[in-house]
Amino acid sequence: MALKDKVLEILEENRGRSVSGNKIAASLGMTRSAVWKAVKQLREEGYTISAVTNRGYCLTSDNDILNEPSIISFLETEALGRKMDIFKSVDSTNSFAKSLAQLGAVHGHCVIAETQTDGRGRQGKKFHSPNNQGVYVSVIVRPKLSVEYALTITSCAAVAVAEAIEKVSGLECGIKWVNDIYANGKKLCGILTEAAIDVEQGGLEYAVIGIGINVSNTIFPKEIENIATSIRAETGSSVNRSQLIAEVLNCLERRLNNITSQDFIDEYRRRSILIGRTIEVTQGDVTRTVLCTGIDSFGKLLIKNEKGEAEALSGGTVRFPGEEG
Ligand code: BTN
Repeated sequence: MALKDKVLEILEENRGRSVSGNKIAASLGMTRSAVWKAVKQLREEGYTISAVTNRGYCLTSDNDILNEPSIISFLETEALGRKMDIFKSVDSTNSFAKSLAQLGAVHGHCVIAETQTDGRGRQGKKFHSPNNQGVYVSVIVRPKLSVEYALTITSCAAVAVAEAIEKVSGLECGIKWVNDIYANGKKLCGILTEAAIDVEQGGLEYAVIGIGINVSNTIFPKEIENIATSIRAETGSSVNRSQLIAEVLNCLERRLNNITSQDFIDEYRRRSILIGRTIEVTQGDVTRTVLCTGIDSFGKLLIKNEKGEAEALSGGTVRFPGEEG
């Protein structure tokens, strides 16, 4: 670990409080002038660090640059997030995580970025990923599950992310099948799960769960301005993104560890914004207006079709009649 990162680690542990240069120097076995140099470097990277004579250095509480010590300070997991790569910019955290997974990355390894130049959404859509305004994280998981549970991982992730956002921001979150998180009728977060199957074992080899949360965006591209929202747009204040990432991982690990208990399906149903409503379902080129009657225990969408027959859908996109996007 570079010296400046060790200094950052100490400042993060004492966020909002001053630590003397002498104390930092002594605990890292470096000189006070080396500590000063590290602080200067960190300031150049954008950290606000105050220096008060006789008191020392203080990382102010409002710092929101993503870094490992800060995320770890909120982490309660065993595996998720215990290994992570954080980028200033990457094409897509999911693409990067998939290459890592193919090279054998461990269960729980996370890829995080401040911005994505080619953030990907479902159905080949782009995911708008402006710098420093959101959470863009991909988690590699290797659960011992049969293939039929692939959809369940996605539903499980939706529940965990809704819980985490609610815990950190107080904003009430609903789920639009399969895994869009909604607040007050607008999309706050999208999840893209990409899985690889182990043909010989007949189960999942790995899944990459990619989560994109709009945190402090107030301006959205024209094509999504009427359907997208952010935590700040809904609550009037932002959140600490490191804490949000850690909470997502805490909730995700808890939910994944109990994925077969079906407990989360009850929570998924409770949060569903579709059940009991008339919706438009698009599969391939065909769009049908149907009634959503429920979610089955594998996360499939239960509908009553135009002929009044019951169906269980495992794929497709859903909109409310008249909804854009
Ligand atoms: C959707 O809304 O259709 C899914 C959006 C998923 C976006 C996240 S951001 C982190 C990860 N990396 C990507 O390229 N996509 C996912």
